[in-house]
Amino acid sequence: QEVGCLSIIVLGASGDLAKKKTFPALFHLFKQGFLQENDVHIFGYARSKLSDEDLRERICGYLGQAASTEPTEVLSRFLQLIQYVSGSYDSEGGFQLLNKQISEHEISKRSEPGTSRRLFYLALPPSVYPSVCKMIRRYCMNQSDLGGWTRIVVEKPFGKDLKTAEDLSSQLGELFDEKELYRIDHYLGKELVQNLLVLRFANRLFLPLWNRDNIDNIQIVFREDFGTEGRGGYFDEYGIIRDIIQNHLLQVLCLVAMEKPVSLYPEHIRDEKVKVLQSVIPIKLEEVVLGQYEGYKDDPTVSDSSNTPTFATIVFHIYNERWEGVPFILKAGKALNSRKAEIRIQFKDVPGDIFESKRHGRNEFVIRLQPSEAMYMKLTVKKPGLEMSTIQSELDLSYGLRYQDANIPEAYERLILDTIRGDQQHFVRRDELRVAWEIFTPLLNSIEEGKLRPVMYKPGSRGPAEADELLAKVGYVQTHGYIWIPATL
Ligand code: BG6
Repeated sequence: QEVGCLSIIVLGASGDLAKKKTFPALFHLFKQGFLQENDVHIFGYARSKLSDEDLRERICGYLGQAASTEPTEVLSRFLQLIQYVSGSYDSEGGFQLLNKQISEHEISKRSEPGTSRRLFYLALPPSVYPSVCKMIRRYCMNQSDLGGWTRIVVEKPFGKDLKTAEDLSSQLGELFDEKELYRIDHYLGKELVQNLLVLRFANRLFLPLWNRDNIDNIQIVFREDFGTEGRGGYFDEYGIIRDIIQNHLLQVLCLVAMEKPVSLYPEHIRDEKVKVLQSVIPIKLEEVVLGQYEGYKDDPTVSDSSNTPTFATIVFHIYNERWEGVPFILKAGKALNSRKAEIRIQFKDVPGDIFESKRHGRNEFVIRLQPSEAMYMKLTVKKPGLEMSTIQSELDLSYGLRYQDANIPEAYERLILDTIRGDQQHFVRRDELRVAWEIFTPLLNSIEEGKLRPVMYKPGSRGPAEADELLAKVGYVQTHGYIWIPATL
């Protein structure tokens, strides 16, 4: 079936997310030829009174640095595709006007009625999702199903707890089918997160090892070396658990722990993710350490009595045949001593060890999501030379070195392309979201009730010492005297 032209509508076009992520991702797709001038038109919609030129200038300003190395001609061709429509998020007039503009574009491209494609990207606070979706449903849908479609992309936070998330899901669910809704979690667009399925299920090497018989514990870690600069107001309402752990790190946990899907069909993958989430047993408060960095409350948008964690370590247990007894430690923190995200799989000690290899530390398989994407396996080897002594070394696959000519796309770039292609594999399904909130809501309630308080930590440190103690308590053995250095050219 012939498909018609594509309209991409960015709602919240004058906001931060649109400027920093959505438009740059669209520009990169354009540059690589995924968005064709004779086919695509981009609409920005927001409340501010701006002209087309004003919006283009803003986007251009943000793309400035990257653009300076580009022929300005590519950028100006991209900017010419963008048109601005101003209106509020609940006004009929605004959305009627938007529809008129989209239709004019479709007519000018001679799209057969019903074949055109409309992608709505909600770069907006979730409080306006219901009214915006209602307006889209009422005024802006592609009118029939002759190969065309209307799709809605939404950003987290999808609610604050089980109830608010379910309310939001029901409101959106009344307006759109699940196959029209794309809930973005940008961690699912990262190269090494997408590699997890291949790694686990296409390598004979890992199949017999990936279980409770061999693995002692698994850590999924996110660290940032800056605080909540400029986002204190948002952050204080959500905290690190809702900002990072309930979504990004839990999604990674699913891919590390799930069983092999029946096929690569998106529903088969998402079915397995839901199953593993359903096997997570309730979080115990004594297996949680919260932290807040000193100075967090100096931000005028943060309340002086804020109990909001900027750091958390939480131990999860999955009760199934593969994982019973293996702690999954999810850790995230702002204002720490480094910026990185990684998965660290620590194996059990060698039984009947004759080399005292325990001295060096255990075998670990580390997947470095960012920066410097890499995978490395920590091994004990014979120290080169005449003596029979052992040292710890590694098998290292550093992407920068191994794939020198490859361009690793930005997460948003990849995910937006998926929405155009209609591939929901890397998006969060409604039932997945529900179970994710079921897991975290009791803990979040305890924090709100003040049953659990964050420990203060110094900005630029490792976070609270209590978190390292918890790690050791559940079995993680830290390797001393060995540091992996990312390979460089
Ligand atoms: C966002 C969080 O979802 O992810 C931010 O709201 C965080 O607080 C960001 O900084 C991290 O993303 P990345 O891709 O830089 O790891």
